[in-house]
Amino acid sequence: AMIPESFIQDLLHRVDIVDLIDAHVPLKKAGANYAACCPFHNEKSPSFTVSPQKQFYHCFGCGAHGTAIGFMMEYSGMGFIDAVKDLASRAGMQVPEQEGRRREGISDGPRTVELAEVMAKAAAYYREQLKGSPKAIDYLKRRGLTGEVCAKFGIGYAPDGWQNLEAIFPNYNAAELLAAGLVIENDQGRRYDRFRDRVMFPIINPKGEVIAFGGRVLDAGEPKYLNSPETPLFEKGRELYGLPQARAALRDTDTAIVVEGYMDVVALAQHGVGNALATLGTATTAIHVQKLLRQVDRIVFCFDGDNAGRKAAWRALENSLEALPDQKTIGFVFLPETHDPDSYVREFGKDDFNRMIAQATPLSDFLLRELGSHCDLTSAEGKAKLVAEAKPLLQRLQTPLLRLQLVKRLVEISGFSQPEVERLCELRSIAPPAPARAPRQSPAASFMKKLIRLILQKPELALRLPLEALPSDVAETRILRRLVTLVREAGQPTPGYAALLERMRGEAIEGDDLVLRNAASDLMHEPFAEDELESEFAGTLAKFARDAQKDEIEALQAKAKALGMAGLSSDEKTRYVALLTARGNNNSSPGSQG
Ligand code: UTP
Ligand code: MN
Repeated sequence: AMIPESFIQDLLHRVDIVDLIDAHVPLKKAGANYAACCPFHNEKSPSFTVSPQKQFYHCFGCGAHGTAIGFMMEYSGMGFIDAVKDLASRAGMQVPEQEGRRREGISDGPRTVELAEVMAKAAAYYREQLKGSPKAIDYLKRRGLTGEVCAKFGIGYAPDGWQNLEAIFPNYNAAELLAAGLVIENDQGRRYDRFRDRVMFPIINPKGEVIAFGGRVLDAGEPKYLNSPETPLFEKGRELYGLPQARAALRDTDTAIVVEGYMDVVALAQHGVGNALATLGTATTAIHVQKLLRQVDRIVFCFDGDNAGRKAAWRALENSLEALPDQKTIGFVFLPETHDPDSYVREFGKDDFNRMIAQATPLSDFLLRELGSHCDLTSAEGKAKLVAEAKPLLQRLQTPLLRLQLVKRLVEISGFSQPEVERLCELRSIAPPAPARAPRQSPAASFMKKLIRLILQKPELALRLPLEALPSDVAETRILRRLVTLVREAGQPTPGYAALLERMRGEAIEGDDLVLRNAASDLMHEPFAEDELESEFAGTLAKFARDAQKDEIEALQAKAKALGMAGLSSDEKTRYVALLTARGNNNSSPGSQG
């Protein structure tokens, strides 16, 4: 880790998660905890809960949970390092620089905070310049935009000329200007402004920081849009244009409309469609889809009516498949050939546009139609080809219901039976989505869940866990093992739950993640009774050992009954006798049994 572990612990100790979250999502007291409607999914009654004692949040609706750091990451879309820095500065703490923290080959470049400052200054300058440029204002007016909408999106103008930015950056040679992509350096080391005589669209992240620009030529010229390069602030495949401006409309409509262009987003907003966002000259990625589905239940892709638009829609479909949960929907709108969303809304207006969004083609229809269009479905070969082409797509789906629905449609079209389609596509069963309670669980599993909860509340208990006595190869044991290692490594003082959660961030594999999440959920209901934890822990372990012993005795007894005592090996006999003796006077710790 680049930031020392001890610092993360101090930070989580210093920051109060209730204050932090309350500043973004107003909280109401509910018993020992605080509650609100979840900011990560759409809901009418509050299931988002924050625990002041345990310093973490958990949503009973969508399962989102984490620490103060996790909240900043999820809510503001920051990376881990930025979230730590942000919290540290609120708490008045200095993030220590660890030796050797720079990756090899990367020079000591400016940090993101400094880059963000430079970008903010440039954005303000471009906005100011727009006011003084009749030709840029005239251009925007011709495109149907009012000053109000231009202000909402922070649109500006970069004047013609090679070193205009010198006016606001006296040190035009500063490393930040180059790193932020605002200037370009030629072979001779001479610098000049990247953006000249262009209308400037700032790309703003959910924190409100300008992270990049797109600059459009006023007349004909190449390239039509010039974009910032990728920088430490800006990674194209993660960002969406218009996200902060769309926040309220996303919440109101529960739908995100994804379009291709900057101008599409702005023109739609101008006409009262506020929930549109654009990818930035790249295909829609699974990260984009995930980000949006955290805020809305429905995404509609609305791309240009040309061939490129159809291709972009197909890419979006492919990349959505693995990020799509069952209860969310994805639709596609195909505009008439010569239109893009901007020209369409200008010609036909908001109501017509919204009607098209409401009637979008469902993902499954688009998928089958597109596959069917290049298979001859009147021939047996064509039908087999259809199933073969559907295979990689179906395999990506994580959603049992949608997949089943698609399989059934393939059955209808192809004439294969359902088991045949499933076998041809090599579909493995998908674990059903997180059940609130697993219907049937072994007693061992429920003991171990209890142990996890106890250890999360009092991590030093981990050091007394008889790991060798736990069943191997189940999620609960993996998590318990990991907790033991983390607590051991951390030494004194023992890290709290929030710090442990931070350590495990991102490393848990699928099923383990669920166990942890359910443990956190249960914790929200458990009173924080520090003094009872010890005795509960001892009691749970003792009962666990007794049950294990009982199972073993029963197994040996059954074997002896079936085969006679002679059927037991000598080891088994010794063990059997030892177990029966131990049962007589057993109250000892399970740790000694191995
Ligand atoms: P379009 O050419 O469809 O742009 O490119 P548009 O938004 O409709 O532009 P107007 O209406 O002519 O002003 C879609 C998106 O592709 C990226 C931009 O993000 C643009 O918004 N693009 C396009 C570039 O990055 N560079 C280009 O030269 C062209
Ligand atoms: Mn356009």
